Amino acid sequence: MNILVTGCKGQLGTELQKIAISDTLHHWYFTDVDTLDICNKDAVEECFTHNQIDVCINCAAYTAVDKAEDEPELAMLVNAFAPKVLADACFKHQALLIHISTDYVFGGDANEPYKTDDTINPQSVYGSTKAEGERLIRESGCNYMIVRTAWLYSSVGKNFVKTMLMLGDTKDEINVVADQRGCPTWAHDLAVALVALLNKNGKNEVHETFHFTNEGQITWHDFATAIMEIGGKTCKVNPITTDQYPTKAKRPAFSVLDLNKIKEYAGIEIPDWRESLVKCIEELNSRLLRSSQ
Ligand SMILES: NC(=O)c1ccc[n+]([C@@H]2O[C@H](COP(=O)([O-])OP(=O)(O)OC[C@H]3O[C@@H](n4cnc5c(N)ncnc54)[C@H](OP(=O)(O)O)[C@@H]3O)[C@@H](O)[C@H]2O)c1
Repeated sequence: MNILVTGCKGQLGTELQKIAISDTLHHWYFTDVDTLDICNKDAVEECFTHNQIDVCINCAAYTAVDKAEDEPELAMLVNAFAPKVLADACFKHQALLIHISTDYVFGGDANEPYKTDDTINPQSVYGSTKAEGERLIRESGCNYMIVRTAWLYSSVGKNFVKTMLMLGDTKDEINVVADQRGCPTWAHDLAVALVALLNKNGKNEVHETFHFTNEGQITWHDFATAIMEIGGKTCKVNPITTDQYPTKAKRPAFSVLDLNKIKEYAGIEIPDWRESLVKCIEELNSRLLRSSQ
């Protein structure tokens, strides 16, 4: 199959690129905004036609959660209008769209893991635009798998893990919120799961929503403490409340996602969050070592 990956320079797209190197089953076409702006309908159509795309994995998104509060039109364009452009192209070319969404579509007032068909209630511009993207894809009639994930991190780009490690080098103590509960996701594990979903389903008709994170649920404070510990930093992590750390966009207090559906459908086991965090920090350390040699 011919697979188009959009937003390939981001955290998830980079992990898919690593997997594709050793994949002999498919032809991969990697694009980012400089080579394929997913808001550009004509360019998307040309790409699908020219490369005879069978599957599109949309890793492109507007992901700056707080900034989105000041740029709602741009966030809506990239997170909702552009996925519709991709969905329409998939419908026309009978291709499968694998689209990534977020735990931020949920309200955050639950006390047990969100199932894929639970009612959404986004609390932020980012969450609302991602929810609208999901809605437009479902309405398009194309074959789709929407995969919601959360707290994504990797060894590239900006993310919580890299920020904590950097603070661990420069601060003696930091404050981190201890009343928001969720699940971290190593982008590598998500990329592996997407390929498993793809190989399982092929081009068969599908209209499904899945959840994928690493196993286990923790607070941001737990996460920061583990990052310092595994990263060998002595920086102390103090627990604080969300009220003590105001942000422009409201975050869900609870955004744990139920993983049963993807585990059954794709036949996968999902690594525990801590196990994957260790691997990501090892990768970061070996990269640091290589660059210092
Ligand atoms: N990061 C998280 O914590 C998190 C949590 C839950 C869900 N998600 C979802 O997971 C997916 C992957 O996230 P990620 O962290 O890998 O994102 P990312 O690192 O921000 O990467 C997104 C990529 O998309 C590119 N892009 C932006 N606008 C584009 C356009 N119009 N056309 C083509 N490419 C465009 C970006 O380029 P520029 O950098 O130049 O803008 C960037 O390379 C997204 O759908 C996101 O909403 C992420």
